[in-house]
Amino acid sequence: MSVPEYFLLEDGDRLPRIGFGTWQASDEVLEKAVDTALACGYRHFDSAQAYENEAALGRALQRWIGGDAAKRKELFVVTKLPPGGNHPELVEEYFETSLRDLGLDYLDLYLIHVPFAFEHIPGDLHPKNSDGTMKMDTSTDLVAVWKAVLKLKESGRVRHVGVSNMNEEQISRLCKVSKPECLQIEVHALCQQVPLIATANKFNIPVVAYSPLGSKALADALAAKTGREYPDLLQLPTVQRIAEAHGRTPAQILLRQLLQRGVAAIPKSTNPERIKQNISVWDFQLSDGEMAELAALDRGERGRICDFSFFMGIEKHPEFPFKK
Ligand SMILES: NC(=O)c1ccc[n+]([C@@H]2O[C@H](COP(=O)([O-])OP(=O)(O)OC[C@H]3O[C@@H](n4cnc5c(N)ncnc54)[C@H](OP(=O)(O)O)[C@@H]3O)[C@@H](O)[C@H]2O)c1
Repeated sequence: MSVPEYFLLEDGDRLPRIGFGTWQASDEVLEKAVDTALACGYRHFDSAQAYENEAALGRALQRWIGGDAAKRKELFVVTKLPPGGNHPELVEEYFETSLRDLGLDYLDLYLIHVPFAFEHIPGDLHPKNSDGTMKMDTSTDLVAVWKAVLKLKESGRVRHVGVSNMNEEQISRLCKVSKPECLQIEVHALCQQVPLIATANKFNIPVVAYSPLGSKALADALAAKTGREYPDLLQLPTVQRIAEAHGRTPAQILLRQLLQRGVAAIPKSTNPERIKQNISVWDFQLSDGEMAELAALDRGERGRICDFSFFMGIEKHPEFPFKK
């Protein structure tokens, strides 16, 4: 089964199906990793204002672009509206901050990061009450935020707009106004998101998988806090056996499964060897039997890692997207 290397968007733009994740990397480490990623052929870069490292990504991208408009066009740069920006009148301000920090004239894709909102507190992207709970804004009007994001597209400063971490109902609600051009969600072997991907496919919305390798740093941090066990995806016997059979690494098997399911992936690594490995997934194929074995690893909702429990109290927000 050959897998296309891009999603073709409606205006002919191409969204590369392997991108580079940038969460949880310090500025200096990220800048070097992006240099390596560019040299290895990555052209899709996933960022977010909430990662607080957009400027480091921007420096590496600008160095590579070197003022050449044709090189800029080769890139597909994505960033996200943080929860504090989920207020229609503030969307433009948050967007401009990202554009300035990235040092770019335009973005390729801007996503609403999450459907819930924090209070807007300048200089604090993750505002908390004294008891540690998040300062939420529970009056969120998701459709109004979406309309403000669509206006950015009309202005020409972003070529495509989409959403992340939304459920079927929220996606259907936004589709009544205008279809999101991308859905970025957690997808991996233990959390395969079959119904949500079916909804996205029904609307013809490209799906991008975040945490495709199981987000070990987040899983370890949550395990330390909650005592819950998070299996290491790279150590799963089924994944290891299939990797051995193909002479590939477990990470490559996990990424290839997503590609063969029609989903793009944005693995994050700051290790040069692994950065190269994660984009070298085009020249082998998983059999139907192997795909079925990997499909059987799905734990549904129980397999979710990024449940936003690190934002204390957030499950009480009316737009909190995940069912327990
Ligand atoms: N929209 C959202 O709400 C959301 C949420 C989470 C993530 N994201 C995006 O998705 C990206 C990826 O997700 P993620 O960072 O959570 O996790 P991930 O990509 O699933 O996993 C990253 C971890 O895997 C390790 N790793 C990478 N390649 C490897 C390989 N070939 N072999 C073994 N280990 C490997 C990395 O360590 P090394 O760096 O040491 O290689 C890192 O510890 C993020 O960076 C971010 O851009 C979006």
